[in-house]
Amino acid sequence: MSDTDRRSPPCALVIFGASGDLTARKLLPALERLAAYGALPPEVAVIGVARTPMTDDEFRDYCRERVTGTENPRWADLTTAARYVAGGYDDPATYNRLSEVLDECDRTAGTSGNRVYYFSTPPRLFGPIALSLGKAGLSQPVGDGFVRAVIEKPFGWDEESARELYSDLSSAFSEEQIFRIDHYLAKETVQNLLALRFANSIFEPIWNRTWVDNVQVTVAETLGVGDRGGFYETTGAMRDIVQNHVLQVLSLFLMEPPTSFHPEAIRDEKVKLLRAIRPLETEADIAANAVRGQYTRGGTRDDLMPGYREESDVDPLSHTETFVAMRLEVANWRWNDVPIYVRTGKRLPARVTEVAMEFHRPPQLPLFPSREHNSEPDALIVRVQPDEGLSLRFGAKVPGHAFRVQKASMDFSYQSFEEQSIDAYERVILDALIGDPTLFIRADEVGRCWKIVDPILRYWEHDPRPIPLYQAATWGPPEAAALITRDGRSWRSLT
Ligand code: BG6
Repeated sequence: MSDTDRRSPPCALVIFGASGDLTARKLLPALERLAAYGALPPEVAVIGVARTPMTDDEFRDYCRERVTGTENPRWADLTTAARYVAGGYDDPATYNRLSEVLDECDRTAGTSGNRVYYFSTPPRLFGPIALSLGKAGLSQPVGDGFVRAVIEKPFGWDEESARELYSDLSSAFSEEQIFRIDHYLAKETVQNLLALRFANSIFEPIWNRTWVDNVQVTVAETLGVGDRGGFYETTGAMRDIVQNHVLQVLSLFLMEPPTSFHPEAIRDEKVKLLRAIRPLETEADIAANAVRGQYTRGGTRDDLMPGYREESDVDPLSHTETFVAMRLEVANWRWNDVPIYVRTGKRLPARVTEVAMEFHRPPQLPLFPSREHNSEPDALIVRVQPDEGLSLRFGAKVPGHAFRVQKASMDFSYQSFEEQSIDAYERVILDALIGDPTLFIRADEVGRCWKIVDPILRYWEHDPRPIPLYQAATWGPPEAAALITRDGRSWRSLT
């Protein structure tokens, strides 16, 4: 599909949780940009649903106030026509009213019976909303129309609760109607992985165990949990980042080439890869290959950062992990024996998300400069954020009389394109409206990701040892360094 075809069909976009934080911070700004870009024709209408009492006019003002500094006429029209339904999420009256408003939009705006429901509510409401939509007869399309449900992680809390959520959702919607968002998949560089691997012929031949020594995935944040302490206490880094973002990025990075760019062909390959990740099962295996940590107070005198247990809404004796490091293995022909090291955490020294492939070292020739002169391995690095781009690190001779080898880098930056990167929410909203499921997660992927992290979470829950600690603005507890140095390797230096 060319860029100019990327326009929504007629549709009512119903946002549950319309007065909430995600709507204000992400969805409304993304809708404004989509309107500016011409992706939302006049037959697209926005309907907000939430418990907060508001009239249509108050909701319109609310939308305008959340996106300031725009003169975009289509945004002005979209907000002027926006509708609002106030009510409880399990109250049948809310859905009766919603049904009337949807019919009115079909008549007045030409939304043609098409509906996209965006669940921008706390996750515990996903099931009740889906069940209520089903009971009200609003979850299935009429005639040629479409009805879709867009939900965002967490998809459950463990494998079992994910299955329960699936059962609630699927009592109202078929799998093809459910669009599960992982906003990492919509990031420009994550999508570039597909271009890098499958639109070039130079990379794929080295994308395997013959050339690759190890893979390192880093999702590092400098921020702490801020005002999300209550949420984070029940989540932790494993559920917040590894179960979804890390495993999704890994599966795209490591999967086999799909037979086509059809969404199902790509998702089939992702799930095959996830199945090939060997779950850590025995206690000894988990203890040896998974490390958790929690930040304590740290930083500098001028920039002192509180410890996790001092954050608001956090138990002063909390054992929630704010850091995870793991060593995974992929049991397939391409990656057998290539360790996959993963680390993520809050309050680390740098904000960096990257996937790096380190290559085997060259043989040492007699009289050739020794390893000390070329200690860092060659590497291909996909930088997801910030400074989106790609780097190839290799050894080069330092100019001068001596034969000294030092690491040099070939860098590609996304900034070299004139076009601007698209915000992840802009992309997922438009894909959901268009009905392109490529960037959304299928139910079998969700289940597989839980199978990988569940045994580790269960083990940590019962582990009597105190959680390892790390000072804010450091790279995690010492156990994380030990996890990789015992293999004779080290984490990439990112500061
Ligand atoms: C979210 C997590 O899914 O991703 C947050 O809940 C995290 O805890 C965020 O901060 C990171 O996203 P990004 O796009 O800023 O890397």
